[in-house]
Amino acid sequence: MKRLNFLMLLSAAAVVPACKPSAPGGSAAAGGSGRLVVGFSQIGADNPWRTAETESIKSEAAKRGIELKFSDAQGQQEAQISAMRSFIAQGVSAIILAPKVETGWDAILKEARDAKIPVVLVDRGVAVSDDSLFTTLIASDFVAEGGMAGAWLAKKTGGKAGIIQLEGTTGSAPANDRRKGFEAAMAAHPEMKILASQTGDFKRSDGKNVMEALLKAHGAAITAVYAHNDDMAIGAIQALEAAGRAPGKDVTVVSIDGMGFAFEAIRDGKLNCTVECNPLLGPMAFDAIAKALKGETLPKNLVQEDRLFDETNAAAELPNRKY
Ligand code: AHR
Repeated sequence: MKRLNFLMLLSAAAVVPACKPSAPGGSAAAGGSGRLVVGFSQIGADNPWRTAETESIKSEAAKRGIELKFSDAQGQQEAQISAMRSFIAQGVSAIILAPKVETGWDAILKEARDAKIPVVLVDRGVAVSDDSLFTTLIASDFVAEGGMAGAWLAKKTGGKAGIIQLEGTTGSAPANDRRKGFEAAMAAHPEMKILASQTGDFKRSDGKNVMEALLKAHGAAITAVYAHNDDMAIGAIQALEAAGRAPGKDVTVVSIDGMGFAFEAIRDGKLNCTVECNPLLGPMAFDAIAKALKGETLPKNLVQEDRLFDETNAAAELPNRKY
């Protein structure tokens, strides 16, 4: 029934006279082709997770006959804000925003709300004074992901470890929340010591560089690594191997995302555990937009369910991975 409604919405959009959005946003405004027009502001393309998310949104738009205006901000929040301002000026029907960091969005979100353009947040949340500034957030529960990683590590190490935490982008929701969830789990285990926490900006190269420096500072005291994403974990594994350590064996490595290459690293015995974080958010994002354009009120948070994989279940899942 929901699908049928959206198809009806799309066919309605298809008969709107070409080139003439009825109003800036808030209704099924159409592009030059007569198709529904949606803007998507993406942070960048700095790791395979983000590329998988971009592809999911692009391919779902194509599948539904929606014209997608895509902007890659190359890691700059200011570029995301400029892209949103441009989408508003062009009178798009809706905006999808993957916000780099949590703060600094109030003004541009107010501009979108004033123009009656619904904004669907994907994968990361924002800290705003008024949650009516966005339509809904489609994301994983990052605190829960950090908690799952921490509980798993405590069990695996018998409650005793010297841990390096490689954090994601400073100020981003996943970095803030994955740290919170993990550190709450550690609080119950006095012999689980976080030796250092440093950002690797969700990038493999930064994860490797930071790990190299921390190996020099903490040496043999390091018995575990908790990385806020798989890419940084792989960078850390490379640094550990270069330093003569045995990741997966004498250093337990746990991370988040559940990318295919992380499953391969578990298979190869170098990574011990990954907590899933699904980047394939395109279908949910466009379902949310269809509902918003019909005037439906959506829950403020549509939460993705995440699973945990380690040597006990990763091999069976590997052939099914879609990202
Ligand atoms: O917001 C989700 C996080 O952002 C993913 O864990 C990470 O890989 C990405 O850059």
